[in-house]
Amino acid sequence: MSESPAARIRALRAQVERANVLYYERDAPEISDAAYDALVRELRELESQHPQLAQPDSPAQKVGGKRAEKFRPVAHPSPMLSLANALREDEARRFFTRMRELTGLSSVPFSAEPKLDGVALNLLYRNGALDAAATRGDGQTGEDVTANAAVIAAIPQKLNSHPASIPDLLEVRGEVVIATADFAELNRKQAECGGKIFANPRNAAAGALRQLDSQITASRPLSFFAYGIGGAEAPPDSFPRTHSAMCEWLQASGFALPEPRKLSDDEEELLRYFAEVRDGRADMPYATDGVVYKVDDFALQKKIGYVSREPRFAVAHKFPSETALTRIENIDIQVGRSGVMTPVARLTPVVVGGVVVSNATLHNSRQIEKLDARIGDYAEVRRAGDVIPRVESIVIARRPADARKFAFPAACPVCGTPAKSEKMKGKVEGEWIYCPNPKCAARVRARLRHFVSRPATDLEGFGSILIDHLVNSGKAEKPADLFKLTREDLLAMEKIADLSADNLLTALEAGKRMPLARVIFALGMDGVGETTARELAKFFGSYENMRDATALLEVFAFVPDIGTKTAANIRRFFHAEDGEVEFESLRSAGMEWTNSTPKRRYCSPPEFLTKMGNLGAVIQREDIHLVSGFAPMHQLGATGAKKLADEFKSLDSLRSASAEEIGTVLGGQKREVANRIAAFFRDPYY
Ligand code: IVH
Repeated sequence: MSESPAARIRALRAQVERANVLYYERDAPEISDAAYDALVRELRELESQHPQLAQPDSPAQKVGGKRAEKFRPVAHPSPMLSLANALREDEARRFFTRMRELTGLSSVPFSAEPKLDGVALNLLYRNGALDAAATRGDGQTGEDVTANAAVIAAIPQKLNSHPASIPDLLEVRGEVVIATADFAELNRKQAECGGKIFANPRNAAAGALRQLDSQITASRPLSFFAYGIGGAEAPPDSFPRTHSAMCEWLQASGFALPEPRKLSDDEEELLRYFAEVRDGRADMPYATDGVVYKVDDFALQKKIGYVSREPRFAVAHKFPSETALTRIENIDIQVGRSGVMTPVARLTPVVVGGVVVSNATLHNSRQIEKLDARIGDYAEVRRAGDVIPRVESIVIARRPADARKFAFPAACPVCGTPAKSEKMKGKVEGEWIYCPNPKCAARVRARLRHFVSRPATDLEGFGSILIDHLVNSGKAEKPADLFKLTREDLLAMEKIADLSADNLLTALEAGKRMPLARVIFALGMDGVGETTARELAKFFGSYENMRDATALLEVFAFVPDIGTKTAANIRRFFHAEDGEVEFESLRSAGMEWTNSTPKRRYCSPPEFLTKMGNLGAVIQREDIHLVSGFAPMHQLGATGAKKLADEFKSLDSLRSASAEEIGTVLGGQKREVANRIAAFFRDPYY
């Protein structure tokens, strides 16, 4: 029986996708490279013979048709350790004392250097030439990022030091970083092209280092600072015997090192050095989060040794985080797009970590009670990275006599609708009070502002002022209304906001065509950020598929990046918040979004249930990786799943199997793995 080309293409795509998942995500390939290449070749040929069947998303169309390299795990020749922290001066002093005690010496020289806040990297040099690079991973095994390390200019491809001083094999350890100034510029560019916005330089460096395409890595402003070595095989006699000498050797070899450094056996001098680095850190080009003290002598280091995964001979003396003291002049309520009413402290402006702060969040009513924050109080305000500043604590001792308690309003301050409340767990626990009125002007404004924002539809010219006017004048209530704005509507706005109606009309025209992911993000479902929106679009391919899947939330377990809470939010969006109407009204207002072919095989709810009801059928249809896609089932690969299915035949019999029976069938599996799998099948949720 010969298949139709369409069916053959479908089957080939499925096989290649499956091979990709097994190879890249499970590290458990089932077919040889040659067999894989043959599949890709056949698929390519068929697609070129039948261009009407070709799809941009086909695995045959991927860059060069090759497997996009996922980073291979690599074992570090010597483990990459972490450091113990000293958070206060007395802890640092205790470290110095202990080192003297452990060595039995009254004077121990210490090396001190800034601790850079970046991404740790291990560089393997063979006979002086860069051979491999790996991220830290779990300390034992990291990811192979050799191709990317090769494009970072600050990483020497060859060691410059005297050849006679170079060991056969050497692991150089250091930190990949992005300068604070470059970071701001990078985020600006990312925002422009609708790319990911990074929370801080460290995340940006990690993102750049873990690119599949090293061209992208090369385009990012990455730097590298060496802070030591992991191990050296066959080091020559002339090889450095102290950390400070090693630093010089590394410098001579072509590496940059964290500056300034200090070598001293005088505790007071080291603590003065700490204070200098701490106070000058705003002027440092790179983010630093402390100072590292290391016993300088390698022989002494060896004698002092290690405790679990940390060297005992080194410690990170961390800088206190960035806080400042100021007054709470007032407390306002801000109503977000989902209606959540957030209390915000209006502060006497104060500089925190180099930035003027005049507002700080108080999170919710519980937090106000916990802090006992009152209007007029002095508050300690913290700013960490790019996150919104928050009120950390109240200086009760300085409370003025006229400080007033804040009464959380019982109604929305914007529309007057009685507020509702919901208990929530999460980063900050407490009771969330929200305005339940979806037509509340504050909510509508916030939703529209989000809709037009850069990472969403990026409607140029539609700033907050214009949005506010449009909402206040009743011209826009939901996103689709924006696309219905007429020249007359916009001309009326021109007078108020000094805008060009023509430019706005052009922006609206351009905004009508968007990839599905951006439309999903723009509609602002709770918990659906840019990444999640992209995963949803990739998985479901169309908004209809996504909507239908809300009939059975379990389907969302297959979508990377989505937990049960977000799945429930998506359901709420479609079922309680007119999500479907939103999509349809955008469509009838002329918006078009590009659907994509679902990346992983999309599975509709009825299909899903049939599959789950009969595990044997699942395997016959080669869809077992769907089953193993459940988070608690990560340890069960395709082979294990097949063994279970062969033995138990149905979900019902699997459900009644004991952990022992499952363990026996899997053979050689760890006890806890069998326990988890048994628990998974017994859990009524699944
Ligand atoms: S020494 C044997 N020195 O901090 C201990 N680490 O919290 C190796 N780091 O994984 C670490 N700057 O990635 C050392 N000057 C410095 C450092 C530094 C940053 C990082 C490093 C390490 C982490 C430990």
